[in-house]
This record gives sequence, C-alpha cells and structure tokens, in this order.
Amino acid sequence: MDRIRIVGGHRLNGSIPISGAKNATLPLMIASLLTDETLVLENVPRLADVALLQRILGNHGVDVMIGGKRPGDTEYEGQTVHISAKRIVDTMAPYELVAKMRASFWVIAPLVARMGEARVSLPGGCAIGTRPVDLLVMALQQLGAEIEIDRGYVVARAPKGLKGGKIVFPKVTVGGTHTALMAATLADGDTVIENAACEPEVGDLADCLNKMGAKITGAGTPTINVTGVRRLSGARHRVLPDRIETGTYAMAVTMTGGDVLLEGARPELLQAALDVLAETGAEISSTNAGVRVARNGSGLAPVEVTTQPFPGFPTDLQAQLMALMTLAAGTSRITETIFENRFMHVQELARLGAQIRLEGETASIEGVPRLNGAPVMATDLRASVSLVIAALAAEGETVVNRVYHLDRGFERLEGKLAACGAEIERLAHA
Ligand code: EPZ
Repeated sequence: MDRIRIVGGHRLNGSIPISGAKNATLPLMIASLLTDETLVLENVPRLADVALLQRILGNHGVDVMIGGKRPGDTEYEGQTVHISAKRIVDTMAPYELVAKMRASFWVIAPLVARMGEARVSLPGGCAIGTRPVDLLVMALQQLGAEIEIDRGYVVARAPKGLKGGKIVFPKVTVGGTHTALMAATLADGDTVIENAACEPEVGDLADCLNKMGAKITGAGTPTINVTGVRRLSGARHRVLPDRIETGTYAMAVTMTGGDVLLEGARPELLQAALDVLAETGAEISSTNAGVRVARNGSGLAPVEVTTQPFPGFPTDLQAQLMALMTLAAGTSRITETIFENRFMHVQELARLGAQIRLEGETASIEGVPRLNGAPVMATDLRASVSLVIAALAAEGETVVNRVYHLDRGFERLEGKLAACGAEIERLAHA
C-alpha cells in the first residue's frame, strides 16, 4: 500500500486549483440512472470513489465514457464524463460493492423510480459512526414504495410507479435529501420535502435534475417542492468546486503560514469555515479567481466551534480544524454533532505531540508550541488529511500510511501541495 512522506516546516506559497466536488459528483453520477439519454458531467475529479461508482453503475448496465484531453487543458482540468443508462440490465446492487462506499446505496432511488423495483445491500458499518439508512427508506415509503428487508438487502417495489407525497425529515440528512429528490422527480404528482438538507451539493443535484427536465423549486432551502414528470432527458452539467478540499487547503496554509490562491474556489460554499479561519488569524480575501488565504507571522488564536448542517461549520472539516488548533495559543473546543465517534484522528494527532482531551462529543485541544513528525495512520478520508495538515507544520518527517483513504477524496494531493513548496512525496508500495 502506498504511503505519503512529509517533511514539515515549509510555508505554502502559490496557487492550488480546486477540483470538482466529490460529494456532488457521486449523486450526479447516480442521477444518470433516471434517464435513458446521456448525461454529460464536466469537472469530474479523478478520485477512487468516482472510479468505484463507475464500476457500481456498470453493474446496472450503465456505460461511462471519459472524454480525452482537449487542447489547452492543464493537468488539473477535471474530466468530462458521458454517462448513459440507456438500458438498465440489473436493479440489484450487491453487498461487495455497496459495502465499499456508502453513497452507492443512493442508487435505490432512481432504480425504483424508473424501473419500479430495486434490491440494494444495506451499507453496513463505517468508521465515523453507525450511519443508518432508516430516513432514506422512510422517504421512499412516503412516495409509495413498498419496502422489505431481505437477507441484508433493502428491496423497494413500486410496480405502478411512485406517487408524490410529503416527506418530513426528523433530522437533516444529505443522503436522505438526495434520495427523496431523485425519487420524486419521476413520481406521479407533487412532493414536498421538509427539513431538507441545504448543502450546496443538494442544490447542484437539483440544478442538474432541472436541466434534465425535472420540476424542482426550493433546493438549498429547508423546503423543496417537486412536481413529478413522466420522463427525464439527458443534459450537460458542470460539477461545483469542492468546498471541503477548499477548506482543507485553507487550513493547511493557515497552519504553515504563507500565501496561497485557491483557484476556482467559491467562498459562499464555506463561509462558516472561512469565518472561523479569520478568527484564528488567517487573512481571507475573495477575488474573481478564487479565495486567497494568507498568514504571515502572527500566532494562531484558539476557537470554539460546533459542527452543524449547512450553512454551519461542516463535519467534513472538523478533523482538519482540530489539526490546526493543536498549534493555537490556548485551548480550543470542537463539538461534533453530526456523527458520533468521528474522532479517530485524535489518537493519531497525539502521536505528533498534540494535546487533546475528549469528553462525549466535545474535544478540548490545548495548543502546543510545536508538533514532531511520526508515523501515523487514519481510518477515514477527512481524518487522514488532517494528519497531512499537521505533518506539514510538524518538525521532521511524518509518514502517513493507508493513503487509499486520501485517494478517495483528494485529487493529486501531493502534487498540489508540492507545487506550493511542501516537501511531500508518495512512497510507492515496494
Ligand atoms: C454526506 O453523508 C456526505 N457524504 C458526508 O461526507 C458528510 O459528512 C455528511 O453528508 C454530512 O454532511 C457524501 O455526500 C457522499 P447524512 P450522508 O445523511 O449523506 C444520520 C466525506 O468524508 N442519519 O447527512 O451519509 C446520520 O447517521 C463524507 O466526504 C440517520 O440517522 O450523511 C448522521 O448522524 C463522510 N438515518 C446524520 O443523519 C439516515 O437514514 C447526517 O447524515 C440517514 C442519516
């Protein structure tokens, strides 16, 4: 398995192009199942999760064609992907594939909406908490699907098609909202989704579905209205920039010091996180080209942050903020309210010399003057990248093991950081 070696202590200066968002790409690719015409997605990042979803869709009979390079493309240009679900040959998503990536469970919605049936494995446990799918199932039931759990599979049936209905989520769920949206587009009649997730990726999915002929209003607010249509068509859609990648590099620059332009980043997608970084002492400015982050000289101020659904501080940046706060001048408190047990990075940060105390869902981070490099390993994507950030500022060498977690969600991580002056390299498995 590959590893990443980092020698800390270098400031980051230059520019980092921000890729298309992983968490928008996945539901957009899944939405291709709703139509027999071709969906063209631009700015698709080269990530292991995207490749895996391609395999999962292939199992249903979907053809995925990745466009070649065009003149003038830089090496960071996202891919253009043509996805065609002309004929769905199988409505079953097996355990072996769904267990590898939770988001693949979402195929249940377009499959039952278009084909009247779907059999999708329960996703199973995950390193960041229990993460059930009860609310996704409830949403489909509200649209008339009959649900049965059969030997670890969720079987959804709607032989006469789904019917519009009212879905009230007792808790904000991104996957639940994606599922409800996709299912409702082809349902007969009107659907109202209450307490919907407002994450930008939901808005991106709704924009794409509307281009495909869906009738969705209110996406990005807690109440979404959908008027069902008989069929959807192909469309062309550009994936929005990755706000979590943006926030991650913004935190890296704040931690090492330096001055970096995050090219193509959209500040409104992560305002809460940028506000927190400004509080810590980073200088943040927005230009037409993206978001500029700089910190020169000044120490880091501690902060108190609670993760929240959008527009609050995202759980997917919690680990990275914790890494940053290990070097603050004072004690920070970070409370995780979205996923219980999303603190797997705490032990590993401690290996670098961080002082962190956990009490229930709150971590108290007592800033230390310096971190020291060490071998580390993490169990999920955002935890892994928090270790990379910490290593960039630590003295000496850190080797991050289990790099496949990073490859799931960060495109060309080491290339982007090295171009800004980081000493970072991939050690291929011998
Ligand atoms: C999405 O996961 C993201 N994944 C996650 O990013 C992100 O952390 C999360 O939203 C929250 O923002 C993708 O977009 C692919 P949820 P999702 O349904 O949709 C509970 C990353 O690192 N819940 O919004 O699975 C759940 O347990 C990943 O990129 C139920 O109780 O998250 C959690 O406590 C990690 N029942 C809360 O809701 C359900 O049926 C929010 O989860 C569904 C969810």
